[in-house]
Amino acid sequence: MTHKIAWMPGDGIGVDVMDATRLVLDALEFDAEYVHGDIGWEYWCSEGDPLPQRTLDILKSTDAALFGAITSKPADEALAELSPELQDKGLSYRSPIVRLRQECDLGVNFRPCRALPGNPLNYRDGIDLVVFRENTEGLYCGVEFFPVPESVRSALSDANPRFARFADVPEQEMAMSCRLITKAGATRIVRAAFEYAQKHGYPTVTLVEKPNVLRETSGLMVRTAREVAADYAGIEMWETNIDAQCMWLVKNPEDYGVLVASNLFGDVLSDLAAQLVGGLGFAAAGNVGSDYAVFEPTHGSAPKYAGKGIANPCAMMLTAQLMLEWLGEADKATRLMEAIRSVVRDGEVRTRDMSGDATTEQMAAAVAARLDG
Ligand code: NAI
Ligand code: MG
Repeated sequence: MTHKIAWMPGDGIGVDVMDATRLVLDALEFDAEYVHGDIGWEYWCSEGDPLPQRTLDILKSTDAALFGAITSKPADEALAELSPELQDKGLSYRSPIVRLRQECDLGVNFRPCRALPGNPLNYRDGIDLVVFRENTEGLYCGVEFFPVPESVRSALSDANPRFARFADVPEQEMAMSCRLITKAGATRIVRAAFEYAQKHGYPTVTLVEKPNVLRETSGLMVRTAREVAADYAGIEMWETNIDAQCMWLVKNPEDYGVLVASNLFGDVLSDLAAQLVGGLGFAAAGNVGSDYAVFEPTHGSAPKYAGKGIANPCAMMLTAQLMLEWLGEADKATRLMEAIRSVVRDGEVRTRDMSGDATTEQMAAAVAARLDG
């Protein structure tokens, strides 16, 4: 069956690592029709939109998307680089990735962090963590205020006596971000974590929250997670607090398997977990909804490295591996994983982040050559 794949290299090294990964997908004889999608900084500058509608249309007509990286800049720089005829149109830059996740309702972000044997960047061998992060709500839901409108202040004063000590803070001296958790969002992320644990044989799922302080939002996460956990008799659920969990992940990372958390906590955990197994050159992620998914490495466009052939394509190749798995191409996913592991284990071909001198393309070519033997 031919898969229809949206192919979105974006900016900087996004292009380099996507080109390299294509070598590997072609060597795998992955049966795909790739549809190029425009995304990134140049479309902001020339059209005032880094994620044009035509790209969203492509997403709607494909089975999954592979995305490289984009460049973002602060609001004033973004405005200054906008083409002159768009300057006075009142446009403001918004991250195309956050928008993509919301527009396609990709509620589950998951990031496997496995120490590949022989990787000199491993913090320790034997680490095998998979972080599930809620992707659309929580503290990143976008409901924020500065200044906080009077209507919101007075509603909070009426509803909660604890607001009293903030009631007289001057308008310009207080900001507010809301942490919204829904039962549906919590159920979706926790269920995704348990399903993954069941399918891949992990004995535990660790729910990482802070219910002793965030009584209501973490409280809802915990209650919901316990209900979901009841459907998975063979898997034990551990409940921990985010602060302590960060400490435990540094002390005893091998004790953990699948971890699940709301948006901000999951963001923190997934960067910590990624660094334990080699950092940005190895960190791959999937954004998954009910019938669509966008796969992306964690790293950005690293403008300094762009076009120089220095970037490590492993993160992008591991990202493609996640896509193959999600598409049901289990055999190709396994072969790709084995080839990456084999090249990393041998250590003859290493990119600069691994203290080697192989180019982006040479690293990918080594993996492609290893696919069958
Ligand atoms: P970055 O991830 O682009 O790079 C940080 C540093 O990590 C690089 O200078 C390089 O030393 C290293 N690095 C990153 N990817 C690597 C790879 N594949 N191989 C070897 N080393 C690698 O983050 P930075 O510098 O904070 O941001 C650069 C641009 O990327 C900004 O415009 C930022 O907004 C954007 N960005 C985009 C993301 C995305 O598209 N998902 C995520 C993070 C940043
Ligand atoms: Mg992050």
